[in-house]
Amino acid sequence: MVFYRFWDILIIVSTTLAAIKIPIQLGSGYSRWADLVFIDWAIMLIFILDVPINFFRPLSTGGRSIPTKRERAVHYLKGWFIIDFLAAFPFQLLFGSPFFQLARLIKLARVAKLMHHRRRRPFQHSTLFRLSTFFFWLGLVTHWLSCGWLELSAAAGVPEASRTYLRALYWCVTTLTTVGYGDIIPLTNAQTIYTMFVMVLGVGMYGYVIGNVANLLANIDMARAHYLSNMERLSTFLKYRHIPVALQKQIYDYYAYLWEHRMGYDESTVLSQLPAALQSEVSIVLKQDYIEKIPFLKGAYQELIRDMAFELRPVVFTPGTYVFRAGDIGRHLYFINHGQVEVIAADGKTIYNTLKEGDFFGEIALLSSRPRTASVRTLDYCDMYTIDRDTFEKVLGHYPEFAKHVREIAKTRLEKE
Ligand code: CMP
Repeated sequence: MVFYRFWDILIIVSTTLAAIKIPIQLGSGYSRWADLVFIDWAIMLIFILDVPINFFRPLSTGGRSIPTKRERAVHYLKGWFIIDFLAAFPFQLLFGSPFFQLARLIKLARVAKLMHHRRRRPFQHSTLFRLSTFFFWLGLVTHWLSCGWLELSAAAGVPEASRTYLRALYWCVTTLTTVGYGDIIPLTNAQTIYTMFVMVLGVGMYGYVIGNVANLLANIDMARAHYLSNMERLSTFLKYRHIPVALQKQIYDYYAYLWEHRMGYDESTVLSQLPAALQSEVSIVLKQDYIEKIPFLKGAYQELIRDMAFELRPVVFTPGTYVFRAGDIGRHLYFINHGQVEVIAADGKTIYNTLKEGDFFGEIALLSSRPRTASVRTLDYCDMYTIDRDTFEKVLGHYPEFAKHVREIAKTRLEKE
């Protein structure tokens, strides 16, 4: 498969080279480009080799691969063969005229197909890829239009000194972008018609750029754009409801923390949109690092880790907030992923302990069905995972060793009180 990937890149590069070289060498002022025959030979060789390579290329059609060689060959013959054949055929050698080389450009259809195929699959830099393909085609079209203008200028009798490729390109860019300085103007009817054509093309392209490229650029950092738009809505709401400035600051800090640590994504929402089988796989990958940090889960059964990972829900607390207070009804067990909390006695003064990354709390209320024996307050931003009572009980029922371990910890903590 790596070979085919490399081959596709080679096809794109050689076709692009042909699309640049052939139109320019056919022009009257640039025939010296035709002297670089080894490039023409190389392109022809690659195009010829491409035909047998495609004949036996493994095909995948939606996961079902076409098995026999014969079927593959028939598939190719019915499809892209004619294009590849016409692009590879040495017409100019048989008929003499270099204009037959233009037939090579038919291969651009394959380039378009390869790019389209890639675009359909989402990948990390897909927006950048879309932008690059857009500029790729734009660059080629600009080049061809410049070559056309060069020819028309030659026909109009423009002296060779002012008929350079650079000036033609300059004319093309100013006309296409609708800037039109007017320092290079059409002299003949043919040039006037050509100019009008390029102007109309330029307007169409401008519309496309405004509509699509701006959108693509905005998508490059979609996560950030999403975060900023959420923050804007939030800020309008907070101001509209006259939320005190200090509280507003806390809310902004909380979102800033979420942004820094989770790129503003809510893990649970992303997971809930996946099919069940993938959900558990992804939750394990997401939470594995953390689960490995919990001392008593080190070396635990793989199934326990799997069950736990699936049920763990992420929560974030800002500094100085109470996760719960002594006497509350206990519904969750908490695992600290990041940050520190202090366990405060019911009197509100005595500090029993400070818990950190890898520790858990809240098990006593769940094990003994009594109110919370102490309050828990965060010391800094705390990233935690919780599991609810039902899951906790289910896990305890399934994994007696885990249950024993949790009970022992609960016992020593209760003794300390
Ligand atoms: P729970 O009683 O549900 O709520 C308060 C939690 O604080 C309690 O469960 C324990 O998880 C935790 N806790 C209580 N006492 C101590 C202690 N001495 N050291 C560490 N944690 C404690």
